[in-house]
Amino acid sequence: MFSISISGKSLADAHADIAVIPVGPKGEVGTHFSKEVHAHIAALMKRAEFAGQWGRAEMFIAPAGAGFPLIALIGTGKSDDFHDVQSEGLRRAIATVLVNGRSHVARRVAIVLPSTASAQPITEALLLTNYWFAEHSKALTQDERIRSLQEAVLILPDKKDMGQVKKLVQRAQKVMNGVSITRNLVNQPASHMSPKVLAAEAKKIAKTSPRISLKVLNRAQAQQKKFFGFLAVARGSKEEPQVIHLTYTPALRQAQGKQKKTLVVIGKGITFDSGGLSLKPAQHMENMKIDMGGGATVLGLFSLLPMLAPDIAVHGIIAACENMPSGDAYRPGDVIATMSGKTIEVLNTDAEGRITLADALTYAQTLKPDAIIDLATLTGACVVALGDTHAGLFGNNQELNALILESAKQSGEGLVEFPLPEEYRPTVQSMVGDVRNTSAMRMGRAITAALFLQEFIEKNKAGQAVPWAHLDIAGPVYDEMPLIPYWQFGATGYGVRTLVNVVERFGK
Ligand code: BES
Ligand code: MN
Ligand code: ZN
Repeated sequence: MFSISISGKSLADAHADIAVIPVGPKGEVGTHFSKEVHAHIAALMKRAEFAGQWGRAEMFIAPAGAGFPLIALIGTGKSDDFHDVQSEGLRRAIATVLVNGRSHVARRVAIVLPSTASAQPITEALLLTNYWFAEHSKALTQDERIRSLQEAVLILPDKKDMGQVKKLVQRAQKVMNGVSITRNLVNQPASHMSPKVLAAEAKKIAKTSPRISLKVLNRAQAQQKKFFGFLAVARGSKEEPQVIHLTYTPALRQAQGKQKKTLVVIGKGITFDSGGLSLKPAQHMENMKIDMGGGATVLGLFSLLPMLAPDIAVHGIIAACENMPSGDAYRPGDVIATMSGKTIEVLNTDAEGRITLADALTYAQTLKPDAIIDLATLTGACVVALGDTHAGLFGNNQELNALILESAKQSGEGLVEFPLPEEYRPTVQSMVGDVRNTSAMRMGRAITAALFLQEFIEKNKAGQAVPWAHLDIAGPVYDEMPLIPYWQFGATGYGVRTLVNVVERFGK
């Protein structure tokens, strides 16, 4: 087991395999070693052209007398970098130290904190990097290198900071538990991850707190509630579809009679996306267990709500099903009904996510929320546009978009705002039904998918719609490359830490 401890003693007392030392904006290393060791480090830094650049880490075999076998220097960036930017640099540098430390089978690292506040991103980086999904692999379970790290000792910048650092570390550890729940769910193959398994996970979360309640609809109950679009997608699979509706209710604040805000978070929950009758080519199907990533993010957030205890109501909705071809599957050309009353002309059964989300959005609006945020692995086009590290943000409300962008910056999660141009809207209008599930326009498919979703955000008589934002997380939900050093192979947990920030900001 991996543990994080905090020490008020000096670095030398930590007896670590790696001493991790922040390098200041001017390339300064601090005074942790003898003059000779310092001279040695200075020479190595020069040779590596390392002066504390953002996100970088350099590991050296320590010279005799250093008191450590290995020394790692981490960059904190320029002094005029924003706090959020510096935090992300620290996350990446710490991750690089851990990954490099594996080849040395490092068991214990001691990290000199550059500041009190750095305890949060550093704890996040430790736990993001030290995660591995090994449930089905004997080789990984036994891999000594991956599992080598046992303890990280955080060395305080100032003993006075003990209380504050402890708080930050404990909170970050809890948040990271939520991130790991999401990663475990996404990593789980579809052979082990059905809509029912997802609903069981929601039940587990609901049981942890009296503030969280859960409603689950099966096929027949979803039919009664008019989830017609969702059920059309679900029809091709033997797996029982499940509409999962979690509700977090804040504690009553007696004296103040003010109305509490309500936020709905929707996650796409396709436990496997074969494409349906518009079958995907084999290669495109390989990773389609990740298509419930939005739903998994919602569950990760809900696991944290009792701890975060925000003063707002939060609903989590996941319309979970599998997209499969069969004799009973929905077909290209079909016209299907939705809860909203609008009909959808299905041109491609592989554009299934937006159909399930259409009903989830209509259902969400019956809850009269102040905002709706959906997260979905919606389009390959978004991945073509942004690659794997950034998600796309779409929305009808500048204020909500800005709040989400700020939250993402704070968590270091890449997010880019896309437009919803009015002139593309006609391309999702149908000649046969009301809307078509693929645009008549070949380009801009991440945008036209979002425009399709927007068709299900209703306007009142005054022409006003509920603030709604859509995050297309198809890229960052899963990464096989380690493009970012704290993303190891597989699910990233993208979105959970941003949503935590969103919930906190929304309550203010
Ligand atoms: N789940 C996919 C999108 C996806 C692609 C997620 C790659 C993660 C990685 C979605 O259901 C889908 O198949 N979208 C199609 C839509 C097309 C048929 C209009 C796509 O993007 O190709
Ligand atoms: Mn699809
Ligand atoms: Zn899909």
